[in-house]
Amino acid sequence: MSKINIAIDGYSSTGKSTIAKLIAKHFSFTYIDTGAMYRCLTLFGMRNGWITDGEIDEPAICANLDKVKVTFGDSKGKSLVFLNSEDVSDEIRSMAVSQKVSVISQIKEVREYLVHLQQELGMDKGVVMDGRDIGSVVFPTAQLKLFITASPKIRARRRFDELKGKGVTVDYDTVCDNLQKRDSMDTSRIESPLIQTDDAVLFDNSNLSPEEQMRMLISLVQCRIS
Ligand code: DC
Repeated sequence: MSKINIAIDGYSSTGKSTIAKLIAKHFSFTYIDTGAMYRCLTLFGMRNGWITDGEIDEPAICANLDKVKVTFGDSKGKSLVFLNSEDVSDEIRSMAVSQKVSVISQIKEVREYLVHLQQELGMDKGVVMDGRDIGSVVFPTAQLKLFITASPKIRARRRFDELKGKGVTVDYDTVCDNLQKRDSMDTSRIESPLIQTDDAVLFDNSNLSPEEQMRMLISLVQCRIS
């Protein structure tokens, strides 16, 4: 079977990563979560005191980009994200990181650095990558581009349930507010904003079960491969 790159973009909490993981597993491709890369960099900046509630030390973040090594793994079916070899899979999904990551991902140097790493990861094809600028910037010639969307209420509910399931104490309105702010920052930023490219397939999964989504997507991928 020939290998292709699949670019998956879309709003926050649309289930992009679940879809991407399942497609990657089905076709034995490699899944890359680019949001996790931006989240790790944000966590690294927070731990070093460069990102606080008051201010963001952009020069310090940019001068230390190469000190952030993000790697992926899995254990018992759970995807893991490592920041400099430390498992930070849960910490990068905390509200504290979620509230800062969209600001950090607006920094030009941060984007250039991560986009370059992402392009290297996809050089040999066979990669399913999800994020906000994959079809537009990282892999503009990807053989399949998907733009995933779902209604804001459904997305907030999914995210709230996910956090609750992990034992995080958070209220629904905070989650809703965070999603709206991130959507707005991600779509309006100057540096590679979230857009649906002309050649991307729009996929609204508001009313689709995971099984229905997979059936539709697998046949779409099969078509592109052949
Ligand atoms: O996919 P996610 O929600 O984990 O992404 C976290 C943030 O990172 C998101 O609000 C925007 C940013 N991001 C980005 O700007 N570009 C990407 N390719 C992936 C994520």
